[in-house]
Amino acid sequence: MAYDLASTTWGDEEFAAIQRLLKAGRFTMGEEVRRFEEAFAAAFGMKHAVMVNSGSSANLVAVAALFHVKNRPLQRGDEVIVPAISWATTFHPLQQYGLRLRFVDVDLHTLNIDVAQLEAALTPRTRMVVAVSILGNPAALDVLRAFCDRHGLYLFEDNCESMGASLNGRPCGTFGDVNTFSTFFSHHISTMEGGMLLTDRTEIDHLARVIRNHGWTRDVPDDTELFDRSTDPFFEAYRFILPGYNVRPLEICGAVGVEQLKKLDAMIEVRRANAARFVELFGNDERFIIQREHGRSSWFSFTVILNPALAIDRRRVMEAMRRAQIGFRMITGGCFLRHEAIRFFDYDTVGPIVNANIAHDHGFFVGNHPRDLSAEIRQLREVLDGAAVPATSAADVR
Ligand SMILES: Cc1ncc(COP(=O)(O)O)c(C=O)c1O
Repeated sequence: MAYDLASTTWGDEEFAAIQRLLKAGRFTMGEEVRRFEEAFAAAFGMKHAVMVNSGSSANLVAVAALFHVKNRPLQRGDEVIVPAISWATTFHPLQQYGLRLRFVDVDLHTLNIDVAQLEAALTPRTRMVVAVSILGNPAALDVLRAFCDRHGLYLFEDNCESMGASLNGRPCGTFGDVNTFSTFFSHHISTMEGGMLLTDRTEIDHLARVIRNHGWTRDVPDDTELFDRSTDPFFEAYRFILPGYNVRPLEICGAVGVEQLKKLDAMIEVRRANAARFVELFGNDERFIIQREHGRSSWFSFTVILNPALAIDRRRVMEAMRRAQIGFRMITGGCFLRHEAIRFFDYDTVGPIVNANIAHDHGFFVGNHPRDLSAEIRQLREVLDGAAVPATSAADVR
């Protein structure tokens, strides 16, 4: 039995939506993307949703938009507080826009930013905090929001890994001034490639629509406060007001998104049932540090950190999983400070980065899927039981 990292969640509805668009010959961004945006904003109780071609693009557009807001825009050299573990493209737009990063260690159990270090991370140059809920598990978003409000900072929630999660009844991806999601293949819903930006601020919504589409004015309502619409349609059709990109999604992705979103809640329930099974089998074994749920996780996957105090050989564990055809991988992107790309960044760290390095060196994750994984999780338990041997007890046996 192969236990993969991810699998398709599409059914007849998604294929029918694609067929309908193929027949209509409608491919570039239009009404279906608009429908998905409206459904998405409604599902999360936010005013505006802007779809783009990936979660990475959503992050890029979000950062760009904050450089163009009228009041207190971000500026080059401003500081941003970030967790040491996230995906590379959480960080890359920050570098590309000339921001200075202050990395904070994560909590070893939740894998999210250690909020006890926020005050130490703050300097007179701090302008923004990036909140990331790792692999479905809500970060302390309430604490981060309150911290930002207290110090007049932007909160940017990269929620690309945690659609469907919530904290105190409030969905992850709605705490930030700007929030992003990914609908890449392996995520909670899939549009093949895709991303979404969510905000309650109309100015950010309009900026995102301009930046998404070449920096032109066509996609913004006439009553926008971003600029004054001229009366010359020839000029207006090709009027560029900001240095934008082309990160538009395909119409097919919008149509599939509408169908996938209808299934989100049911899929999360199945993921959570699998998680209960995983916690039951792995929760009380000192060899394994598994992700501790904070709030209500949407359980992207199941993380295992081999207890560093027991010196378990991760290579041996990985080899056993490979033999058993169990897919596994690094926890998100591991500790970002360990990647070569860091040499291009202006950054420092707030205290020692310990836990992110432990996760990097001793951790991995296996997949969760919206189908019953009882047998797969049992098999994982058997494989790890045999392979995760503490060095101390192994020596005793010899
Ligand atoms: C936290 C985080 N941010 C951003 C992204 C980028 O999303 P995408 O793969 O859709 O570009 C990912 C991807 O998995 C992610 O995990």
